Amino acid sequence: MSGLLATIVLSVMIDRSQYSVARPFSRASAARRKGLLCVLATLPVFCVSWQLSYAVGQAQTPQDQNLHHLRANRSLIHYLDNINLLIEPSSVCQKKVPVLVLVTSTPSHYRHRDVIRNTWGKHQETYFFLGLTQDDDRIANAYIEAKQHSDLIVHELQDHYQNLTLKVALMLQWALHRCPQAEFVFKTDDDVMLNPRTLETVLEDNKGAALFGYKHENKVPYRDEYTKWYMPRWLYNEDLIPEYLSGPGYIINGKNLKEIFTAALHIPLINIEDIYFTYLVAKRALGLPLTHDRRLSPYKPWIFTCPYKNYASIHSLSPEEMDIVWSKIQSSGESQFCSYFTSGLLLY
Ligand SMILES: *[C@@H]1O[C@H](CO)[C@@H](O)[C@H](O)[C@H]1NC(C)=O
Ligand SMILES: *[C@@H]1O[C@H](CO)[C@@H](O)[C@H](O)[C@H]1NC(C)=O
Repeated sequence: MSGLLATIVLSVMIDRSQYSVARPFSRASAARRKGLLCVLATLPVFCVSWQLSYAVGQAQTPQDQNLHHLRANRSLIHYLDNINLLIEPSSVCQKKVPVLVLVTSTPSHYRHRDVIRNTWGKHQETYFFLGLTQDDDRIANAYIEAKQHSDLIVHELQDHYQNLTLKVALMLQWALHRCPQAEFVFKTDDDVMLNPRTLETVLEDNKGAALFGYKHENKVPYRDEYTKWYMPRWLYNEDLIPEYLSGPGYIINGKNLKEIFTAALHIPLINIEDIYFTYLVAKRALGLPLTHDRRLSPYKPWIFTCPYKNYASIHSLSPEEMDIVWSKIQSSGESQFCSYFTSGLLLY
């Protein structure tokens, strides 16, 4: 019980330490703070995973050089006009589509796609969006994979984290043209676990909402050039992001898809897709409300043995973890502790 209490206290502290600082602090001091907190908390498992999650976000090179093209032109039309669609399934959305799941992926992530196809992907209309990498073999492999599974959409776009906004724009464009009858469009990533049964309830509960997901409010933009979430001042000059829906899983009502895509054509691009589409385009330009649903795409809970039945999606899972969690979701019954833990404490 005391461990549980410490976790709760700590989760509150972390949330503050990560975001309440009104300006970017140096990486060294950030690391010191974290180290100190970890020692104080004496929760070794948690500390390791926390430090790891921080390390994952670190980039080797400064991101500014990957954003040069945006200095030349930030118009979405300019890019979309120049990006060819190379591969797509010959027939899509034949039946009624309650939710169209669009997954950002990358050529090398065939393991991720395979696990998804064998788990939650079987229960939803799911498509994967890929760009191109330097490796020539990858496109040949993509052709084979596309033939086998009819669920790949490949664009002639440099596949790079800093190009994710373009990839999501291509997704929305594709959905509008190929599957306009979808009631909802779920934008997600290939490290996300979906729970089809809970998702159904979430969709039912948010039937009238324009956009819903895990909402963040008054967050400080990352200004450290060495994190992958770096957002330079020349792209976004404000000190806070008033609100946005978390990128690993937000849902757009099919009725609002067209206005969101069309509005985006006139709003200067930034490199962070969720802030761009949910905040700058949907909320700020169109005035659409963003609805918070805590069951959508929080970071994976720390107690890994819990079956997560109350979540509709969870992010940052490796393909192996996804396999394990899927079998737990399928199994009936859930310990008292787990339902208590996943129902209220970590999600807010
Ligand atoms: C992103 O895509 C644009 C347009 O295709 C390209 O010019 C740019 O080099 C890409 N960025 C990266 C970092 O690959
Ligand atoms: C960016 O591209 C658009 C569309 O192609 C074009 O109309 C506009 O003039 C370009 N802007 C700049 C600054 O070159």
